[in-house]
Amino acid sequence: MKINRNFDNLVPNYLFADVARKTNEFAAAHPEKEIIRLGIGDVTLPLAPIVVAAMKKGCEDLLHKETFKGYPEYEGYDFVREAIAGYYGSFGVTVHADEIFVSDGAKSDCGNLPDIFAQDNTVLVTDPVYPVYVDANLMAGRNIIYAPSCKENNFLAMPDENVKADIIYLCSPNNPTGAAYSADQLAVWVDYALKNDAILLYDAAYEAFIEDGSPRSIFAVDGARQCAIELCSLSKTAGFTGTRCGYTVIPKELKRDGHSLHELWYRRQATKFNGVSWPVQCAAAEVFGREGLQQIRENLEYYKQNAKIISDALDELGIYYTGGKNSPYIWMECPGGMGSWEFFDYLLQNAAVVGTPGEGFGKSGKGFFRLTSFNSREKTLEAVGRIKNLLK
Ligand code: MLT
Repeated sequence: MKINRNFDNLVPNYLFADVARKTNEFAAAHPEKEIIRLGIGDVTLPLAPIVVAAMKKGCEDLLHKETFKGYPEYEGYDFVREAIAGYYGSFGVTVHADEIFVSDGAKSDCGNLPDIFAQDNTVLVTDPVYPVYVDANLMAGRNIIYAPSCKENNFLAMPDENVKADIIYLCSPNNPTGAAYSADQLAVWVDYALKNDAILLYDAAYEAFIEDGSPRSIFAVDGARQCAIELCSLSKTAGFTGTRCGYTVIPKELKRDGHSLHELWYRRQATKFNGVSWPVQCAAAEVFGREGLQQIRENLEYYKQNAKIISDALDELGIYYTGGKNSPYIWMECPGGMGSWEFFDYLLQNAAVVGTPGEGFGKSGKGFFRLTSFNSREKTLEAVGRIKNLLK
């Protein structure tokens, strides 16, 4: 037998696994140091009470013959899809419940969606990039091209009309840079996709952090229903990183090569995915209710305040960054011309603070570094104090 040799094209380790390994080695060598982790974007606040109550009620249902649930619908229960469609409506975007697929998260969906596209499509990603878009397509043997995001374009890469791509991943607000596209900029991407018969895979996982009126969904842009699929997640919106739930929207009219992409994705999911458990879907629906939205807003505000504490410190230090607003991520230039991994080591050794080296997100991340606002207020303040002491 032969293994999938496309794996030879991957970097040896998943970025966050590398960061965790280096951090653990440092912790073992320096048990006396209190390490503060602003690396992986994992939430720290608990789920909203109303969400947990719905999950408990869902578990209770499983205890009784009359209310027990077996396999869920492949595309999610109707009441969850209705709740998500209502959420889109609350910010003025029309998405129909029957266009929504409930899933175990945007990470799986952005890695799995290319299953419905031929291998010889060219994939375009903005660079730096969430590594899953790249790795999933390398595993499938696809050619990947990069649109550099950099200081000159405020880390918001725009399409080059001389470059032809078939599948385009966009993430806004962006992971890792925190930068968010304006409606006009997204309209340029939609226009490019329509002209090239391409598909935009639009990752809106951080939409709940938007505070300046930037679009919360690609479907806020005219023409997107003819060229875009949107992925979203409850991980950062409502603290579901461990609970796992997300959703993908595929307009019914979206076709390529004479086929409905909605139907192809349904076919793919029915074959390889058995849906999200009843208690989790009960919990997810509650996120989008009036009280749920109010409760999750408190957590989002907490993280946004942490982001402001970090970005204010960088302002004081005179360090260039993007993000910090509209996003839980702060994408900073490494001081003194240090390389990304060099600064990672410097910060870990001298301040016991962990971030994520920008270079791990791609070539254009060289010389940059990502901090997250997901730790507690106390630890964020402590980390910022240490960073200021070190870099002033
Ligand atoms: C990150 O730190 O970039 C995220 O936690 C990754 C993810 O959402 O999978």
